[in-house]
Amino acid sequence: MRPTDPNRVTIFDTTLRDGEQSPGASMNLEEKVRVAHVLAEMGVDVIEAGFPIASDGDFRAVQEIARSIDDSVVCGLSRATRTDIERTAEAIKPARRGRIHTFISTSPLHMKFKLQMEPDEVHQAVIDSVTLARKFTDDVEWSCEDGSRSDHDFLCRCVESAIDAGAGTINIPDTVGYAVPDEFGALIAMLFDRVPNIDKAVVSVHCHNDLGLAVANSLAAVDAGARQVECTVNGLGERAGNAAMEEIVMALRTRHDRMPYTTGVNTEVITRASRLVSSITGFTVQPNKAIVGANAFAHESGIHQDGMLKNAQTYEIMTPESVGLTQSTLVLGKHSGRAAFREKLKDLGYDLGDNSIEDAFKRFKDLADVKKEVYDEDIVALVDDEVVRSNDHIQLVSLDIACGTTHRPPTAALELNVDGEVRACAGTGDGPVDAAFKCIKKLFPTEATLQLYQVHAVTQGTDAQAEVTVRLQDQGVTVNGRGTDTDTMVASVKAYVNALNKLLTEREKTAPSALSA
Ligand code: KIV
Ligand code: ZN
Repeated sequence: MRPTDPNRVTIFDTTLRDGEQSPGASMNLEEKVRVAHVLAEMGVDVIEAGFPIASDGDFRAVQEIARSIDDSVVCGLSRATRTDIERTAEAIKPARRGRIHTFISTSPLHMKFKLQMEPDEVHQAVIDSVTLARKFTDDVEWSCEDGSRSDHDFLCRCVESAIDAGAGTINIPDTVGYAVPDEFGALIAMLFDRVPNIDKAVVSVHCHNDLGLAVANSLAAVDAGARQVECTVNGLGERAGNAAMEEIVMALRTRHDRMPYTTGVNTEVITRASRLVSSITGFTVQPNKAIVGANAFAHESGIHQDGMLKNAQTYEIMTPESVGLTQSTLVLGKHSGRAAFREKLKDLGYDLGDNSIEDAFKRFKDLADVKKEVYDEDIVALVDDEVVRSNDHIQLVSLDIACGTTHRPPTAALELNVDGEVRACAGTGDGPVDAAFKCIKKLFPTEATLQLYQVHAVTQGTDAQAEVTVRLQDQGVTVNGRGTDTDTMVASVKAYVNALNKLLTEREKTAPSALSA
């Protein structure tokens, strides 16, 4: 449905589709559903939940998100083929409002080398694909892949035919991030000038960030009349990523004087969404990243601090609170009770059942015993860690490490519980992490290769919890495992074990006997 306010910009989030396509950023079903819920809470208008034909996992994710999200349109991507479109139609069927997004390349380069199709054949495929998609839903979006490098006459012809065939949204991607702002704005203006039925559709843009211009190009397009922007949380996406949702939304909000456009996004959810996507994918946000970087609102230099104390507006163009960044608050001490803990979980946006609250409370008490000050971030990490580990086949039982200058080589003694059977191992390695990971491999042999090992401190201070990401790849499947603990080694083993559990879950989906290892 088209917004009645002519200056309202539809925010189309593709974190779960184009973002997730980024190598290593894979998310499992539960993780995608969690992200989708935060996006819906944030007020994103359209959630592109996946590419249903790509895999059964993608299909299930789109279907589950379609089932469980009420307030946003749920969209699935399809190429211009019958099988793709039918699969997407099936996946979005449970949605209250579902959209089919179908695309085909229109640039000479893509048509000749990628599609090996003549322009007339592509043009016919545009009409056929949109016509077919419209049989399943009234809400059809058509995209011209590599639109920014397409011949203008041909582009206009395809756009006009897509609208005639029933596409309500026409998306113009800068697929390879090649455009510059005035050129991209002019391309959108050209479509408004030359396509006779353009007023019957919402013009959308989808910009990649290869030259660091995705946000600038998107904003130039909005100025030229586009009223949907496709973007991702933290700018996640293939190569240099997609236009960052938080930057688009905050630029429109902060510079409303120059760009009088609005979105429906509740900006106070931005920080939570950013942290969730970063922790699930293991793609850390650079500290100086606009809006969501750790330093985005930090004022270190004396001159800046002095100015800030006199009047925050001297150096602050938007408040940290406006993006949901609140002062790290000391939450609860080890004497805090259940009621206060329950209240804190509610404040942090968690809606857990009684059993889960009890488990989390026990873990909070354990944490408060070893960590003097427990902050909001600690509680988030602790609850997320619990969510991550539910239903695991492999669990850490015990870990002992000897390392340092007098313990060479470092040794690890490890016990794992694999579906009820406790397996033990002791071994050495080049470092403590290497020793522990080698033990895991002995106890649970796989061909999986380690793609990433990353440690991140949840809060400041030497007693901070470590949040570790371990990325494993096995037979074309990539998973990100996470582990959190005040002991970095325990967090590391938990992360590796979590990644193995995720690989097993992925394999179980295709081969029920995969647990023989
Ligand atoms: O970048 C691109 O062209 C895309 C389309 C499928 C919309 O992601
Ligand atoms: Zn894209």
